[in-house]
Amino acid sequence: MKKGYAPKTAGLNPKPPATRPAKAEAGGLLGKLSVEQFLQRHWQRKPLLVRSAIPEMQTRVMLAPERLFEHAGSDAVESRLVSQRGQATRRWSVEFGPFEALPSIRSRNWTVLVQGMDLVEDAAYEILQRFRFIPDARLDDVMISFATTGGGVGPHVDSYDVFLVQATGHRRWGIGPAPRPQWVDGLPLRILQNWEPTEIYDLGPGDMLYVPPGWGHDGVALDACTTWSVGFRTPSRHEFLSAWLGDQAELAADLAGNLRDERFRDPNREPTAQPALVPTDLRKTLHQWVQDWRADERTLLATLDGFIGRHLSEPKPHVFFEPPSHPNTQKRFIQFASRHGVALDRRTRMLYDQNHLFVNGEVDPIKPNRALRLLADQRAWTPSQAAKILVNELINERVYSWYLAGWVSIRSPQLDTD
Ligand code: SIN
Ligand code: CO
Repeated sequence: MKKGYAPKTAGLNPKPPATRPAKAEAGGLLGKLSVEQFLQRHWQRKPLLVRSAIPEMQTRVMLAPERLFEHAGSDAVESRLVSQRGQATRRWSVEFGPFEALPSIRSRNWTVLVQGMDLVEDAAYEILQRFRFIPDARLDDVMISFATTGGGVGPHVDSYDVFLVQATGHRRWGIGPAPRPQWVDGLPLRILQNWEPTEIYDLGPGDMLYVPPGWGHDGVALDACTTWSVGFRTPSRHEFLSAWLGDQAELAADLAGNLRDERFRDPNREPTAQPALVPTDLRKTLHQWVQDWRADERTLLATLDGFIGRHLSEPKPHVFFEPPSHPNTQKRFIQFASRHGVALDRRTRMLYDQNHLFVNGEVDPIKPNRALRLLADQRAWTPSQAAKILVNELINERVYSWYLAGWVSIRSPQLDTD
């Protein structure tokens, strides 16, 4: 995706944005706990088991296993098949999708795990909305796994916060701290060794277990079952810095592009008797390039917030948007949008800070005013909001361009509940 550089300010912004979203409600998702109590007592600290967190799952199959298997057969999503052979020796194997065929659902001890289901399935996208008391920038995805009896991925730790929601069937979770994790050698997946769970819970449809990063957990299917994992990424310093330095290199190349990139030259090369020696002239040139690159601190800080938003709003590599096949003219689009409202596409990542609006890995040229912050926070405008907001030429210009890119759409008339 093309990157846009639109540095507006230097340094951090101490003030929060002028509008704040309504107070987050858990609506039973966290049991008796309020969102605030959950965040203070459990988030990033200790696990929480909630019985009947999503009661609809007790009466309704939200995603049939057959549908999950179809996704596992597609190259548009990431999927893995983890199987174990030999109950005692537990020989593990991992294969990566897409899968033309999966093992029989009558055979035991296998599980298929499919990432990014919130991007392709309404039900997963809808469940995810219930967790938006956590900032979108922390969100990774909803992964859905199906396992036959005995299936699981073994005892492990994640660097993620994860809410494990039991959708169908039953799974036994063992959990416990893993302060200094060690891994069993020679396996294709990271399995904890010398780790014992301190608590065991059997989860049934609708039950949920929150597991903070670094806690060992091991889920074994008690019967054929489906588990939804709502995962929240915790970026590491190394990951962030390597992405940022990569971006700086691209920026330097863009700037050099205008002046023409330089290439090392050695037209006066003398014969060498030490061909393995790194040539001094080459070293000198490379040193010089590094010296020349050093951006001053003000420029670095001025571009940093733009990079942070681009980085955090970047869709995953396999995500593609589908522009409308017969796009409406801008005038028609505005008419329909004002009648039915506007919704962000499930795949769209829209974030903002005090000065910038970020959409799908780009800094948008428009400032994040109140109306745009509302769109980002609600992921939609109701018809009456759209009708009022789209009178503004600048905004309707931008929203129309997002519509043409497949990033937003006109809300379906069934959602007309203004
Ligand atoms: C699973 O669904 O089997 C694994 C989920 C997890 O451990 O994070
Ligand atoms: Co896990």
